[in-house]
Amino acid sequence: MNEAETIRYHAAHDGRPAELDLLDQTKLPGTLTRLVCTTIDQTHDAIQRLVVRGAPAIGIAAAYGVTLTPVDAYASASLPEVQARYRQTIDHLATSRPTAVNLFWALDRMRAIVDGFAGEVAELREQLVTEAIRIHDDDRQMCRSIGRNGATLLAHCKSVMTHCNAGSLATSMWGTALAPMYHLHESGHTLEVFADETRPLLQGARLTAWELHQAGIPVTVCTDSMSGSLMRQGRVDAVIVGADRIAANGDVANKIGTYPLAVLAKYHNIPFYVAAPTNTFDAELESGDLIPIEQRNADEVSYPCGADSPRHTPEGVTVVNPAFDVTPAELVTAVITEKGVISGPDTTKVRAHLDA
Ligand code: MRU
Repeated sequence: MNEAETIRYHAAHDGRPAELDLLDQTKLPGTLTRLVCTTIDQTHDAIQRLVVRGAPAIGIAAAYGVTLTPVDAYASASLPEVQARYRQTIDHLATSRPTAVNLFWALDRMRAIVDGFAGEVAELREQLVTEAIRIHDDDRQMCRSIGRNGATLLAHCKSVMTHCNAGSLATSMWGTALAPMYHLHESGHTLEVFADETRPLLQGARLTAWELHQAGIPVTVCTDSMSGSLMRQGRVDAVIVGADRIAANGDVANKIGTYPLAVLAKYHNIPFYVAAPTNTFDAELESGDLIPIEQRNADEVSYPCGADSPRHTPEGVTVVNPAFDVTPAELVTAVITEKGVISGPDTTKVRAHLDA
């Protein structure tokens, strides 16, 4: 069994509850340990604390989380009562994180099953489990397709830079931004990857560096402030990142620090690619200005080594900690999805791509 698998699900059996079994990403790279959730609150907490993180993985985890609703305790409940319990769970899990639209997309799929169900109460959970597994399986397929589509754009590159972690740890396999690296590596073309450290929670230094190193793909960590200098030295052939939400006009919300990277790439004439599944698009939002940006606890900045470590910012000084920023579409060379590539994304091209 692959101990590093991001998300596993064990269906209820022999009187044992169903389990959502997560690789605890807060402990990486030092410790490979898993966290098992059997309740909705544990699932909500795991998403909020970034035990599981990355837009597609959050959606998959939440979908499985819905199946943990304790409906057995209501054996004599009517179908409308049980449906109401599931809807409560869905509404609650939707409050775990605000920016990644994949969370709401996956929960909407689960809600559609609940709303459309008309059979025996006992069968509803089976249908929800089936839907969650389908969401998980589709994600694997998506990673492969993005890997293939992205590889065509990166085939001429020797080195790429990425930010945060949009790899296997953020999905079910391969990831989005890292998928082309895995694809090319499998076909014998290994790229050198610069992983931005990604302050304040270090998803690049801790997670991207860890997973690429495990896979045998050469990876070099740089602090966020080194990116421009590496570009100026001609050491970066392309930048590729993931996304948490893409607006109808192609503006991209991704981990804080993505926007400055796109500005730097533009200045140095380096292509800036965004890799994301079509379920990361939010066609209802006209532009990136409307994307809700998660504001996280200032302690993540003030105590970067944990609550028991010395404080890094003076007592009484204000600290801001937005988890994401928005990169305007005009800075994006292309968006790579499982369906293909949108070059120079704008409202018309995004619409045509999603409708195709
Ligand atoms: O706060 P995180 O770690 O969930 O942020 C993750 C990112 O910003 C990723 O780049 C994004 O979700 C894409 S994951 C394929």
